[in-house]
Amino acid sequence: MSNPSLLILPGDGIGPEVMTEVRKIIDWFGAKRDMKFDVSEDLVGGCAYDKHGTPLHDDTMAKAQEVDAVLLGAVGGPKYDSLDFSVKPERGLLRLRKEMDLFANLRPAQCFDALADFSSLKKDVVAGLDIMIVRELTSGIYFGEPRGIIEEGNERVGINTQRYTESEIDRVARSAFELAMRRNKKLCSMEKANVMESGVLWREVVTEVGKDYPDVELSHMYADAGAMQLCRWPKQFDVIVTDNLFGDLLSDAAAMLTGSLGMLPSASLGAPMANGRPKALYEPVHGSAPDIAGQGKANPIACVLSFAMALRYSFDQGDEATRLEQAIEKVLADGYRTADLLGEEGKQPVSTSEMGDAIVAALDASL
Ligand code: IPM
Ligand code: MG
Repeated sequence: MSNPSLLILPGDGIGPEVMTEVRKIIDWFGAKRDMKFDVSEDLVGGCAYDKHGTPLHDDTMAKAQEVDAVLLGAVGGPKYDSLDFSVKPERGLLRLRKEMDLFANLRPAQCFDALADFSSLKKDVVAGLDIMIVRELTSGIYFGEPRGIIEEGNERVGINTQRYTESEIDRVARSAFELAMRRNKKLCSMEKANVMESGVLWREVVTEVGKDYPDVELSHMYADAGAMQLCRWPKQFDVIVTDNLFGDLLSDAAAMLTGSLGMLPSASLGAPMANGRPKALYEPVHGSAPDIAGQGKANPIACVLSFAMALRYSFDQGDEATRLEQAIEKVLADGYRTADLLGEEGKQPVSTSEMGDAIVAALDASL
């Protein structure tokens, strides 16, 4: 049997640096756990635009459709701010999500014990936090038509459309219920059914799907109240399911509960392929952080944890994913901190590669 295939798209900014550390981890699993991957690498985002004049070349898109999993770093940067909307780096990422039909975006927000003091919220509010946001990723206002900037009378009008079909809501709701079944069997659905018809439909469909999962305790919340509750007492949640735009906002807010955006991975999953594996793309929640790019300051943990999610959701290696997560817990407990995890003055941060090496050492120690 051939090895499972991975397409690595480091992208822009800190993407390449953090991905270098992930490759150390992938190599470790190949050498020490006999889990070999066929790894190929390509361009996405601004770097792809620089080379090809498009943020995602068709050949790269085709490769992404063929591999068992895609691992992406980050896209974007100030250099590309003035580009036409259609070729902005972000369009590369959005095209991958859309054409691979990655409708379920899993964004865990987990607070590592060693970092509980680091959150902007009180320690007892976040210590032990472990929630999962499931964000719909291929529809809603991100993709709805009509969209654009048009002339109307003597001024311009910016238009985007929130649009959800029943089947789009149904499939992401099912993913969320399935996850809840494997966790603490609580699901909270968030929309704005008080002001948006798409929210009314969302609530109806989620409620209907819930009948197939009688063991899961389903609740509904308006998304604004949900944002408030996330800050007030986040541990009331287990799994949250929400649309594309609300999920974008709520997952950034949830991320900050854990102390640092540099810690959070994500998985974007689609329908199963012929081999039974879901179409999948894994990426850190953080962006390209151009202000610190190329300086060895970036925290590689979110990207490494994204690979752990790949082990779990694409390759059925939950135990090895846990091994990797525990290695990260250990380096944090041992006091390793990249700059983003250092509150006080005077402490010396470790570099991106030192953090990667420490994780590899902790993996060695786990054997
Ligand atoms: C995210 C990002 C993206 C989004 C951008 C980079 C297009 O913010 O993954 O949360 O808005 O979805
Ligand atoms: Mg975002």
